Amino acid sequence: RLPEPFTVPLTMPPVLAPVARDDTTDYYRIVQRAADVEVLPGYSTPIWGYNGVFPGPTIVSNRERRTVVTHRNELPVPVVVHLHGGHVPEESDGYPTDLLYPVGGSGGMADRTGMAGMAMHPDAAAHTMIGERDYTYPAGQPAATLWYHDHRMDFTGPAVWRGLAGFHLVTDAAEQRLGLPTGARELPLLLADRAFDARGEFDYPAVDSTLLPTPGVRGKFGRGVLGDVVLVNGRPWPAHRVATARYRLRLLNGSNARVYRLRFDRRGGSVPIVQIGSDGGLLARPQELREVTIAPGERYDVIVDFGECAVGDQVTVYNDLGAGTTTRVLRFDVTERVPDTSVIPHRLTDFETLTRAAAVTTRRFTFRQGDAGGMRGWVINGRAYDPGTPIARPTLGDVEVWQLSTDLDHPIHLHLNQFQVLTRDGRTPSAADRGWKDTLYLTATGTAEIAVRFTDHAGRFVLHCHNLEHEDMAIMATFTTVGGGR
Ligand code: C2O
Repeated sequence: RLPEPFTVPLTMPPVLAPVARDDTTDYYRIVQRAADVEVLPGYSTPIWGYNGVFPGPTIVSNRERRTVVTHRNELPVPVVVHLHGGHVPEESDGYPTDLLYPVGGSGGMADRTGMAGMAMHPDAAAHTMIGERDYTYPAGQPAATLWYHDHRMDFTGPAVWRGLAGFHLVTDAAEQRLGLPTGARELPLLLADRAFDARGEFDYPAVDSTLLPTPGVRGKFGRGVLGDVVLVNGRPWPAHRVATARYRLRLLNGSNARVYRLRFDRRGGSVPIVQIGSDGGLLARPQELREVTIAPGERYDVIVDFGECAVGDQVTVYNDLGAGTTTRVLRFDVTERVPDTSVIPHRLTDFETLTRAAAVTTRRFTFRQGDAGGMRGWVINGRAYDPGTPIARPTLGDVEVWQLSTDLDHPIHLHLNQFQVLTRDGRTPSAADRGWKDTLYLTATGTAEIAVRFTDHAGRFVLHCHNLEHEDMAIMATFTTVGGGR
């Protein structure tokens, strides 16, 4: 009942058109709703989708302009929208308890969201609303591959699994002047594995399939929920026809828990991957990689050149961390010979290097299994998640060094600002860690030092593990930015 790999055509998520524009702002509208879509050929799969599609529609913002997205919740549960990688004020960032209840009211749902028993700070739900709300994303963020997804406390894993994820690209004039591949040669690719039941429905081992009120997954999923089908833009192991030219692939790992090591293979040899961007935007210079290891939440902006290929060649993307059905991801079929005028400039952008010398504060964060309120769970610096008590109070404008260490594999994600990696396991980080990052994959017993400067927005934000089941097990902490600095 599963399709043969590389028989289903790849598709692109629709690009969302603004509903209105004025001098400063583009306005968008998204309805979150249930829908039935074809994921596996011949089957109808119920999803929860932004505008009823998975992945959700792609939003393209211009750096010079503000973006306002009105979300309407027609789902049977509260939602929270987070712009992952966005530099966004607190009230629009999607703090996990800033719920948007369904149209028609909360209907007593407040007691059934699974958060009732949690130590709640009085203002923990300060930005809670009913039916519809606006998320406002200020202008000024450099060109980057961002994404948006559900972020509701305790239920992010199953909600994203059902389809609540999409791309949000930011572009700017400097990027557009570079001459990178664009149009049909610029492909946002959301990777997400899923399991299916015999009816072709998404199979998620939720304790409570209503996603109210009891969070969590059954028994053996402590390391997160994996599927045996690799979807790219919601298609199982798709194939895509390409010409003999450079393509820009915006790789996003939107999986709940699966990490991929991607290799592009042509006739047994590997096709070079030129990385031009990381989570937070363009690198200073392009760099060649042989493979890309991408953990949940991370993005790699890469150029792959099919110019050396002959018509009829196939370039297969393998996942060298997979087993069985998850070793294959997608295939490019070269069907057309064309001239290619795209370039990869030697310099892509300029940005400030954050140094240890500039740091005014050093903080340590250890992620460990431990006692979380009487249950076996996760603790950061020995503490279970407590939204009312920030784990750190960074001053806006200061450079800080954060030392991260972990006892298991965790992709660690910070909200509000991008960071730079100073060291990995005590050493100079590898090429793949260059540039602005918002998610860093730490493997068991790994350590890293990152430099970060929080700017502009005072308020309450989170850092957490982006393995979504771990996130729902509350490997999360609040930090509060203070001060009126920059
Ligand atoms: Cu993509 Cu706080 O998450």
